[in-house]
Amino acid sequence: MYRIKSKNDYEQSYTNALEAPEKFWADIAENFHWHKKWDQVKSGNFTDLDFKWFTNAKLNITENCLDRHLEKRGDKRALTFEANDPNTPTTHYTYKELHQAVCKTANMLKDLGVKKGDRVCLYMGMVPELLFSVLACARIGAIHSVVFGGFSAQSLADRINDCECNLLITNDGSYRGAKSIDLKGIADEALETCPTIKNVLVHKRIESNITMKEGRDVWWHDLYDKASSDCPAEVMDSEDPLFILYTSGSTGKPKGLMHTTAGYMVWAAYTFQNVFQTDEQDIYWCTADIGWITGHSYITYGPLLNGATTLMFEGVPTWPDAGRFWQIVDKLKITHFYTAPTAIRALMACDEKLVEAASLSTLKVLGTVGEPINEEAWHWYDQKVGKKNCPIVDTWWQTETGGIMISTLAGIGECIPTYATKPLPGVKPELVDEKGSVIEGNDVSGNLCIAGSWPGQARTVYGDHERFKQVYFSTYPGKYFTGDGCYRDKNGNYRITGRVDDVINVSGHRIGTAEVEDAIDTLESVVETAVVGYPHDIKGQGIYAYVICHSTPSNLEEFSKQVKDQVTKVIGPIAKPDKIQVVTGLPKTRSGKIMRRILRKVAEGRPDQLGDTSTLLDPSVVDDIVKNAQ
Ligand code: PRX
Repeated sequence: MYRIKSKNDYEQSYTNALEAPEKFWADIAENFHWHKKWDQVKSGNFTDLDFKWFTNAKLNITENCLDRHLEKRGDKRALTFEANDPNTPTTHYTYKELHQAVCKTANMLKDLGVKKGDRVCLYMGMVPELLFSVLACARIGAIHSVVFGGFSAQSLADRINDCECNLLITNDGSYRGAKSIDLKGIADEALETCPTIKNVLVHKRIESNITMKEGRDVWWHDLYDKASSDCPAEVMDSEDPLFILYTSGSTGKPKGLMHTTAGYMVWAAYTFQNVFQTDEQDIYWCTADIGWITGHSYITYGPLLNGATTLMFEGVPTWPDAGRFWQIVDKLKITHFYTAPTAIRALMACDEKLVEAASLSTLKVLGTVGEPINEEAWHWYDQKVGKKNCPIVDTWWQTETGGIMISTLAGIGECIPTYATKPLPGVKPELVDEKGSVIEGNDVSGNLCIAGSWPGQARTVYGDHERFKQVYFSTYPGKYFTGDGCYRDKNGNYRITGRVDDVINVSGHRIGTAEVEDAIDTLESVVETAVVGYPHDIKGQGIYAYVICHSTPSNLEEFSKQVKDQVTKVIGPIAKPDKIQVVTGLPKTRSGKIMRRILRKVAEGRPDQLGDTSTLLDPSVVDDIVKNAQ
C-alpha cells in the first residue's frame, strides 16, 4: 500500500518523490485497478502547460471507489447519512449497496441520453443522491459540475452556460437547519436562460409544491425504481476530464477548474490515507458540502478510494442547537473529524456546556481546512474537542490543487498551532518575493508558489486555457502561483497567512472582490463600488463595500438592504457585504487604479496606518472615507 508509517518514512517518501518521481508515483499507482497501465508516469511542464500524468492509461475511478472493494469490504459501511432533523433515523449504505445505487443512477442518466464527455450540473442539497450522482457521472464518463446549493439562480445559470451542461440534477428543495431552500424554484429561474439543458432530474426531498415542466423535468423516483443495478464502467483515458468545479479569483467571473481522471484519483487517495491515517474500522466525517472541492476529494473520492466509511451530514452545526456536531460524533462514534475554522469559531462562541455535554471519546484525529485557523480557535479545538489527545491536521490546499498539499500527517508529524507544517511528498513549495526571486532559507515570508507538477493538479480552466496560464503561471513564469502569502519558520514549517490577491475568504468560501463589485454596480443608483476584506471574529474575513451613488441615499439603512439583496440575488447569500459605506469618491492613483491598501486599512479600523497617499489623484477623498468609516 502507500501508507506512510513514521517520520522517517515521510522523509524518505518526500526525498523519493523529489528525486525519482516516476518510480515513486508508479509504485503508488500500482495499488489501483487499471484497464491498461500508463506509457509514461509524467510528462509536460509549466511553460507549455501541457503536463499530464499516467499517459495513455485506461481506468474508471468508480471501479476503484466501489467495485474494487466489493470482495473484501462488500458488507462494510461505505456511506452513512445523517439527516438535518435529528429525529430522522441515520441511513447506512454498504459498499455493495452504494455500488448498486451508483449503477442505478448511472443507468438513469444513460436513459436520459447522457453520454461520455457530456457535462452534468448537480445543484442539490447534502443528500446521498448527490453522492450517487457524482459517482454515476464518473461511471459513464460524463463530467460532473457540482454547484453549491447556496448559489443564486444567476450564478447557477452562469455555471451551466459556461460549460454547456445538458442535464441538471436537483432536489425539489433542501433542508438547512430550521429553513428549507427552494432549489427547484431557483433552478427554474436559472433555466430560463440555459438553452443547453434538455432535462432536469428532480429528486424529491422536502415534498414541496413544485412545478414540473412537461417534456423537460422528470422525477428521480420514477426512473430510479425501474433502473437496472448493472452498469459496466466506461473505460476512460487517464487525462479524460472527471469534473469541473467553479471557483472565484481576483478578476472576472468564476473559473471552471477542470480535473482529470487518473492523476486526481491517485492524489485524492494518497493524500487522504496519509494525512488522516484512517484504519479499517474508523468512521470519518468531513463536514464540508459536496458543492466545494473539500466535499469532492474528502467526502467522496478520497475516503471511498481507500475503502473507508464516510459520513454525509445534511444539516448545520447550530440546529437544533449548537451541540449538533458533538451529538453526532457521539452517536455515530466518529473517529476522524474534519471541519473549517469558521465552524470552530462559531461553536466556540456558543454555550460551552454543549461541547462539554458530549463525551467525544471516539475521536482520534481532528482536521481543519479552508482558511487560516487562529491560535485561540486551535487551542479550543485541541482542548474542548480533542481533549488534548488528538492530533490536529491543518490542511492547506485549493480547488486548483485537487487535494491536500501542505499538512501534518496525523500522529506522524508535529502539530503546531496555526501551521500547516510540511508539504506532502510530491509537493515542492517555494516562497517568492515581489520580483519573482525565490527566497531561500528559513524564517522567511513570501508568496507561495509550487515548483513542478503534482498528479492532482487541475489541468485547465474549462474552455479557456489562456486564462489558466494568465492566472496561475504568468506572475512567476515556470511556477504555479497559489495566490497565498506564507511564512516558513526556522524549522521549515509552513504557515499560510492568507490571500495576497483580491480574493476574500469568508467562512472558508472564496469570493472575488470583482464579483461582488459587479453585483452591486448593477443597481441603478450606484456609480462605482470597491470591495475589500477585513478581519471578522467568526467568518475569518468580512466583506466591506465602499459605494459611490448618483445621489446620496435618503435612507442609508434601506440602501444597505438593497445592496445586500442585490448581491444575494446575483451571487448568493454567502457574498452579502457585512458593512456598506456610501462614499463620494474612491482613492485612485493618477492612472485610475483604486488603492485598495487604503480601503483595507480603513476597513480594518487602522486609519493610522494608511502609509503614503501622495500618489493619489485626490488625497482628500481619504479624509472623507476615514471620517465616515463603519
Ligand atoms: O487562501 C487559502 C485558503 O483557501 C484557499 C483555497 O480555497 P478553495 O479553493 O475554496 O479551497 C478550500 C478548501 C481546500 C487557499 O488559497 N486555505 C485553504 N486551506 C487553508 C487555507 N488557508 C490557511 N490554512 C489552510 N489550512
